[in-house]
Amino acid sequence: MQITILVGTMTGTAEIVAGDVKKALAAEGHAVDVLLMDNLKADVFQRPGAFLICTSTYGQGDVPDNARDFHADLVAARPDLGGKLAGVIGLGDSTYADTYNHGGMQFEQILSELGATLVGERLAHNASGTTLPEEDAVVWALEWVKLASPLAQAA
Ligand SMILES: Cc1cc2nc3c(=O)[nH]c(=O)nc-3n(C[C@H](O)[C@H](O)[C@H](O)COP(=O)(O)O)c2cc1C
Repeated sequence: MQITILVGTMTGTAEIVAGDVKKALAAEGHAVDVLLMDNLKADVFQRPGAFLICTSTYGQGDVPDNARDFHADLVAARPDLGGKLAGVIGLGDSTYADTYNHGGMQFEQILSELGATLVGERLAHNASGTTLPEEDAVVWALEWVKLASPLAQAA
């Protein structure tokens, strides 16, 4: 399966996570591209295959700076993402109790509104927890791809 990982990050953690997920999925035979969200537009969803959003949360539950324009373009352009398979890896910190993982949630919400099929449950990594985000994300992504692959073949 072709998979595009779209990365929203402030201090690079989500990019590291995406790199490890790419390696794990590539080892299973998938063709994976990692794209930082900087300068992306909604038309990136015209790429074939499935999509993973890998993003942290900043400010008052906002998407990271490099994801703002991309998120805003999705909200404004409202492309029809019907038939597109997607998954969300969210990074956050539960010390921000009121806005915990809202960055991932915001992407989940707009993708769902635009008709994408969200495969699996959004991963919410907690930086105040005891696990490493890249390790949790690799385990999650290997399950996600097992769910997504048959759906991609059926499409
Ligand atoms: C200034 C600042 C604000 C943050 N705000 C939130 C927040 O509102 N909600 C949340 O869940 N995490 C928040 N975080 C935690 C980050 O999302 C988390 O540390 C993440 O792993 C960082 O990933 P990145 O390096 O890819 O940006 C914040 C972190 C910082 C430094």
